[in-house]
Amino acid sequence: MAFPLFLSDPERRERAEELARRYGLHVVAAPPDAGYWLELSAARLELAAAAGHGAVFADFVDGAARHRREFGGGRGQPVARAVGLKGAATPSVVDATAGLGRDAFVLASLGCAVTLIERSPVAAALLDDALERASRDATTAPIAARMTLVHADAAEWLSTLAEDARPDVVYLDPMFPDTGKSAAAKKDMQAFQSVIGDDLDADRLLVAAVAAAKKRVVVKRPRLGAPLAGVARSGELPGKSTRFDLYAPRPVPSAAKGL
Ligand SMILES: C[S@@+](CC[C@H](N)C(=O)[O-])C[C@H]1O[C@@H](n2cnc3c(N)ncnc32)[C@H](O)[C@@H]1O
Repeated sequence: MAFPLFLSDPERRERAEELARRYGLHVVAAPPDAGYWLELSAARLELAAAAGHGAVFADFVDGAARHRREFGGGRGQPVARAVGLKGAATPSVVDATAGLGRDAFVLASLGCAVTLIERSPVAAALLDDALERASRDATTAPIAARMTLVHADAAEWLSTLAEDARPDVVYLDPMFPDTGKSAAAKKDMQAFQSVIGDDLDADRLLVAAVAAAKKRVVVKRPRLGAPLAGVARSGELPGKSTRFDLYAPRPVPSAAKGL
């Protein structure tokens, strides 16, 4: 059944209908008695729950995004080094697991053109709303202009890319099963995770990423988590709580290069 979208600000009916059409949501007249729903207010779109939890929404203007924009460590921060932002090099990036867009926004704020692929209609709608708000803010509008949202399964989308549309880098940050350790501190993210589900097919996505990237594939993992299976890593960048695994692109057969 389509995911419910409750409109708490009647003035925004047109926008609610646009989001419902784009992401296959079902506009409801009242918030459901149980479970989860998306709620569109005058301020923003967020994921709400009958059980109650902190609001879950994507945001590129204030809060953590503003802090990372102002104090995040620029091109020296681990995610930037992992994708190869160095000197004048500003690779094009496909973020194939966009989620709430935090990593994509960091890369776009450092100058990368980023295509965000998100298969969950709920996460894609939250991203759509955050991008719309970011494009109305003078500071974030130029960054949002470098971000393109695509609602699709990334493994399929990457496999249909034309040769001249291949990105330099494909970035993956699949959802891994919750170990329970961080559950108490992050009730809101637990809610997001239970709506989105675990990404148990990430190995298949890695194969598609390695075939599509021109320069490298980067996979964000928990610091001590197992690497994704099926493709050998070419390197890794350890961090405090996360690790970035690096993969070389699949070599183009000489016949395809015209040799
Ligand atoms: C852990 S979250 C990513 C968080 C993100 N890096 C951020 O900074 O907010 C993983 C997301 O990837 C999405 N995802 C996983 N596999 C995908 C696929 N094959 N195609 C598109 N989206 C995918 C999930 O729906 C989920 O929203």
